Amino acid sequence: MIETQVASPLAEATDDNTLIVDDLHVDVGGKEILAGVHLEVRAGEIHALLGPNGSGKSTLAYTIAGHPKYEVTQGRILWRGVNLLELSADERAKLGVFLAFQYPTAIPGVSVANFLRLAVKSVLGDTPAVEFRRRMRATMNDLRMDDKFATRYLNEGFSGGEKKRAEILQLAMLKPRLAILDETDSGLDIDAMRIVADGVNRLKNPQMGVMIITHYNRFLNYIKPDRVHILHQGRIVQSGGQELAEHLERVGYDALLKEVGSRGN
Ligand SMILES: Nc1ncnc2c1ncn2[C@@H]1O[C@H](COP(=O)(O)OP(=O)(O)OP(=O)(O)O)[C@@H](O)[C@H]1O
Ligand SMILES: [Mg+2]
Repeated sequence: MIETQVASPLAEATDDNTLIVDDLHVDVGGKEILAGVHLEVRAGEIHALLGPNGSGKSTLAYTIAGHPKYEVTQGRILWRGVNLLELSADERAKLGVFLAFQYPTAIPGVSVANFLRLAVKSVLGDTPAVEFRRRMRATMNDLRMDDKFATRYLNEGFSGGEKKRAEILQLAMLKPRLAILDETDSGLDIDAMRIVADGVNRLKNPQMGVMIITHYNRFLNYIKPDRVHILHQGRIVQSGGQELAEHLERVGYDALLKEVGSRGN
């Protein structure tokens, strides 16, 4: 068989795992939702993205992951030396981009174990079945997931918290270099939140950048993000350390946005 060499941005990827979102403008359904987002997430850092409902957080997450519904009208997303916008969602996943969805979808007929096996195979390459099952069981055990979960159809009939744990299970199995967690804490009871936060903390490593989208500082108390950003009307209007999330929790968006506005940001 003759192999043809196709120049692919994948082949040019470097090991510099810094995510640079540069002046990103995104339209959804003909309306501008992101209006010039700038963001830099270095490997090993955890960034938290907060913002009122509808401010564009999930839009940013989907756009980085490569969902075709989101139309980029301006800007770049640089990562590992390539412009992610030139890659398909599948190619981005192969480069190590992982998105845990705000609303994970059910896949009837596909068990958790089979789904994970396929996902791991497509992103990391094949692993022997025995080794895969050993890793999966150990990870489920860490996340306090019952073994029976592996045979259930993905997300079908899962409670809100179970869906979120299944997302973290995927994250742990896929070992991405960039993890975007879209409201992974929502719907979790206190114990489950701790388990999921522990899972994220355990996965934290110097090669992986993490972006956590959340509405609640209590989740961030467990995670201890390096940076916190506030997104409002498609722009990051304020960035800081975790004290920014604590302040926001105390005063609410209205007051915070007034403060930001009065400083002329
Ligand atoms: N397919 C679509 N068609 C039209 N508008 C859309 C579509 N998808 C998203 N939007 C709009 O884009 C805006 C941003 O949505 P997005 O889901 O990014 O917000 P969010 O910050 O994640 O909010 P939340 O905190 O509620 O999850 C909203 O006004 C939403 O209605
Ligand atoms: Mg959202």
